[in-house]
Amino acid sequence: MNIPDTPILISYSSDEEKIDALKFSKISGYPCIKKSDVNSSLHLNYSSAFVELCDSEKNICIHIDFLSGNLAHRQQFGGGRSQSIAKAIGLKQGTPPPTVLDATAGLAKDAYVLACLGCSMTLLERSPILVELIRDAIERAKKDEHFKSIIDTGFELIEDSSIHYLNSLADTINPDIACSDIIYPDVIYLDPMYPDRKKSASVKKNMQILQTLLGKDEDTQELLDAALKVAKKRVVVKRPKGSARLSDIKPTYQVSSKNTRYDIYIIQQ
Ligand SMILES: C[S@@+](CC[C@H](N)C(=O)[O-])C[C@H]1O[C@@H](n2cnc3c(N)ncnc32)[C@H](O)[C@@H]1O
Repeated sequence: MNIPDTPILISYSSDEEKIDALKFSKISGYPCIKKSDVNSSLHLNYSSAFVELCDSEKNICIHIDFLSGNLAHRQQFGGGRSQSIAKAIGLKQGTPPPTVLDATAGLAKDAYVLACLGCSMTLLERSPILVELIRDAIERAKKDEHFKSIIDTGFELIEDSSIHYLNSLADTINPDIACSDIIYPDVIYLDPMYPDRKKSASVKKNMQILQTLLGKDEDTQELLDAALKVAKKRVVVKRPKGSARLSDIKPTYQVSSKNTRYDIYIIQQ
């Protein structure tokens, strides 16, 4: 069992959710108590409706919802293939959507947008807390036929360090060994925690709580290096506009939108 560093509790709103909360507590190593007894800041709470990540100090709770709110709105009115993210991954009229490995799944928002654009998705996330939030959201949304049809193309969630996962994939790229059953992703998508993200009121509550839980990602250069070894067609790095690149390696080109910049590393056209 892996006992994580971040002080976080698992809680349950009522006895109905206690079994699920205890199950995750056992797997993750985080202590489990009733929500009314929580006295620490961060806790992953099992309520009757969903699993939510709460910061009681800041009075914030977040959960993932693929069927309503921002994600559903973006799916309906987000601009489809004309969105910058679609251009960044190289989505083109008349060619099949690429297979995408999202190596920094987070709250799975970008992954879901890409799935809505027809991409077969693999989601990698190293935080067991975030994996549990995504898993819960997928389970709830699966009851919806439209959601099921979107993820039918592929929406696989894997808990792992992407550096470890990608380096293991890279080890199989050996011309002397026939590995025809291994599928390498066309596109690897990276959106690591930004080191200098401000603690201002303008930082959305989702990002505030992720900052408290995860801090910053310190191994981004290693992650980019691993991605460049494995992607078949391109690596796409999402950055806040005006921020530094992940490494000294210059991207082939960039796609920009209002607040975001995508650095594109072309491996093969
Ligand atoms: C800014 S969030 C990503 C947000 C995501 N794009 C979304 O749309 O919700 C960054 C996430 O990447 C994860 N991450 C960063 N480096 C990672 C790595 N090497 N392996 C796995 N996950 C990683 C972090 O744990 C965090 O959850």
